[in-house]
Amino acid sequence: MTEPEGNMSDWPSHGGRPEGMLLNLGLASNAQVIDFSANFNPLGPPSWLMERLAASLAELNVYPDPDYTEACRAIAWAEGLTPEQVRLTNGGAEAIFLAAALLAKQGARRAVVVQPTFCEYERACRHYGIGVQHLALEAGSFALDEARALEGIRDADAVFLCRPNNPTGTLIERDQVECLLAESHRCGTTLVVDEAFVDFVSPDERLTPLLARYDNLLLLRSMTKLYAIPGLRLGYLLGDGPTVDRIAELQLPWSVNTLAAGLVERLLGDRNFLERTQEWISIEGPWLQRELEALGLRVVPSRANFLLLQGRTKAQAAPLLLEYLARSGFLARHTHNFMGLDGAWLRIAVRSRQENTLLIEAIARWRPS
Ligand SMILES: Cc1ncc(COP(=O)(O)O)c(C=O)c1O
Repeated sequence: MTEPEGNMSDWPSHGGRPEGMLLNLGLASNAQVIDFSANFNPLGPPSWLMERLAASLAELNVYPDPDYTEACRAIAWAEGLTPEQVRLTNGGAEAIFLAAALLAKQGARRAVVVQPTFCEYERACRHYGIGVQHLALEAGSFALDEARALEGIRDADAVFLCRPNNPTGTLIERDQVECLLAESHRCGTTLVVDEAFVDFVSPDERLTPLLARYDNLLLLRSMTKLYAIPGLRLGYLLGDGPTVDRIAELQLPWSVNTLAAGLVERLLGDRNFLERTQEWISIEGPWLQRELEALGLRVVPSRANFLLLQGRTKAQAAPLLLEYLARSGFLARHTHNFMGLDGAWLRIAVRSRQENTLLIEAIARWRPS
């Protein structure tokens, strides 16, 4: 377990905003690039969404239902839960901050964050005055050392983990999560699992059924990745009823806008979109992984819609590849602000076959000196 470091870099802390990255690389901020730095579904948003949004504009002159009753009902139905176990949020990001707010309210002083991972767990904990310790996944394989995790749980008030994990794409096995959960329950520790990308793996990997047995489990979801609506903001949080009640008290009023909230039922009901997405990722993810490996790159076996990779020699160092790609019209995600990766890896999103092929062709042309 390591103590936190300070600000890890001046690089943009998130993908999906090409301008900052391009400027950092000495390129024009408006240079044309295909953005592999953010992990959105290339099939989205669903084709009906724009029309639906346009039709909803007439509803902007009234406040949203502060409890988002319809949306929560739809989520509960889709998840096999009761509506009391659901809180609609302004993206997964708000769900993370609400989880931290609840922990702080309950007097949490120390959280463990399983690293390398999404930076907002640490930021949310610090924002609410919760101390953070980092539990590193194993170097190279990014597997969880269960014994160390169990030890970490014993003196923490909360543990944050991401499943599948951003940026490694790895998935902590369900058995391991159950084991951590049982120990957390015994120790009075809350386990917060961010499932922002779980639908790209399989709905069967969702941990929702465990909520029936564990009141110390909080699940965080994002709808912005799957449906490619990051600008609209939509997510939710799942837990046991009384916990979700306490979280509702901490949420800012009307934090989800009418347009976003009004989409939830229809989005969840669009089974065809989900099936097409799963078909795409089941073909395109392994294909891209194989092609990258065939070019001699080291690629972490991923279960998600993004891949973590690095070259095998000094000449192929990640910052050099990042720069070469940007100059060739492809933006990858740097890893300077992922603990333990420190810029030595790149993350790329899985996109359409056509875009993935262009990326592969560009890497094949790379002649690092
Ligand atoms: C693991 C993870 N969780 C949550 C989020 C937040 O997503 P949003 O707030 O767009 O739903 C992100 C965004 O990149 C993420 O990578």
